[in-house]
Amino acid sequence: MKALVLSGGSGTRLRPFSHSMPKQLIPVANKPVLDYVLENIRDIGIRDVGIVSGDRIDHIGAAVGDGSRFGLDITLLRQDAPRGLAHAVLVARDFLGDDDFVMYLGDNMLLPGIEDAAAAFRQDRPAAQVLVHKVPDPRAFGVAELAPDGSVQRLVEKPREPRSDLALIGVYFFTPAIHDAIAAIGPSARGELEITDAIQELLDRGAFVKAVEYDGYWKDTGEVADVLECNRKVLSDMQGRVEGHVDEHSRLSGDVVIGPGARVVRSRITGPAVIGAGSLIEDSQISAYTSIGADCVLSGTSLGDSIVLDGARLSGVSDIVGSLIGRAATVAAAPVNAEGHRIVIGDHAGVEVAA
Ligand code: TTP
Repeated sequence: MKALVLSGGSGTRLRPFSHSMPKQLIPVANKPVLDYVLENIRDIGIRDVGIVSGDRIDHIGAAVGDGSRFGLDITLLRQDAPRGLAHAVLVARDFLGDDDFVMYLGDNMLLPGIEDAAAAFRQDRPAAQVLVHKVPDPRAFGVAELAPDGSVQRLVEKPREPRSDLALIGVYFFTPAIHDAIAAIGPSARGELEITDAIQELLDRGAFVKAVEYDGYWKDTGEVADVLECNRKVLSDMQGRVEGHVDEHSRLSGDVVIGPGARVVRSRITGPAVIGAGSLIEDSQISAYTSIGADCVLSGTSLGDSIVLDGARLSGVSDIVGSLIGRAATVAAAPVNAEGHRIVIGDHAGVEVAA
């Protein structure tokens, strides 16, 4: 069995981050979302992984290398444009050959992993197996309608009146039967080759498509609020550990990870929180659910429930909450006598200034 990880897409909902990096590399608790994906794949005993990506394929390649760091053999597959999830399978046709495969959306976080789902697929080997998760409002998702035996009867994209509360989540298991089904479908109204249409095509041909309910933690990290929520979840399961230096005027409480070479000076950190390697935190207060990347400098700052990416600098600012701050970005207090807030931000960025 092989794995196909989808790490292309436009990532419009994660701008401005997706202007400069693939969204699958956004860190959650200081580790890229894609790493969690690859670890889950390794844990079900797969070695051969194809990663589909578009313009930013070089960033993905630089981040994952040949896969040996994960115990995987990684092949990068280029998709010329985000033409849909089923198009990504088409791009990977030669790589996949006639093997069964798991298709995993590279921005989906499934924290307890996918071992039960993989075991169920290997045991029954349906033409396709989807994972479903109960959601309070299914209208924003692909929804599966099931027969009492757990087989899928129908898949409906973003139904206005859902007939089930089971949303499709971003992990699919396929036999090679999916390739013929993809060859038989055309682009949808939004111009993409949809995987749900290909699975529906399998159903129309009388194939057995099974749904497995996944009840662990799942998040599609498509938007900033989702990334922050996921960060809170991963941090809350993390154990504290100090590898850097905390001076005698500082206080850590709860589970706090201080990375190698990081320094905490005259500061207070309330966990769960993680401070990346080589960062300096001085005269600051970091509150719960915060991840600070590597080589950041925070001074005279208070911040909580946020993610700060590598190399960012924050000084003299207080009450930063619910924020995602990009690589090498700066947030600083204005000089005394400043006439107002001075804001230099990239395209499609968002800033909320408390009144
Ligand atoms: P989406 O998040 O649905 O698509 P997107 O990245 O275009 O996001 P947005 O709506 O914010 O513009 O894609 C799910 C995953 O699949 C994500 O990891 C990107 C990947 N993907 C591809 O690799 N190729 C594609 O053609 C598409 C549509 C998505």
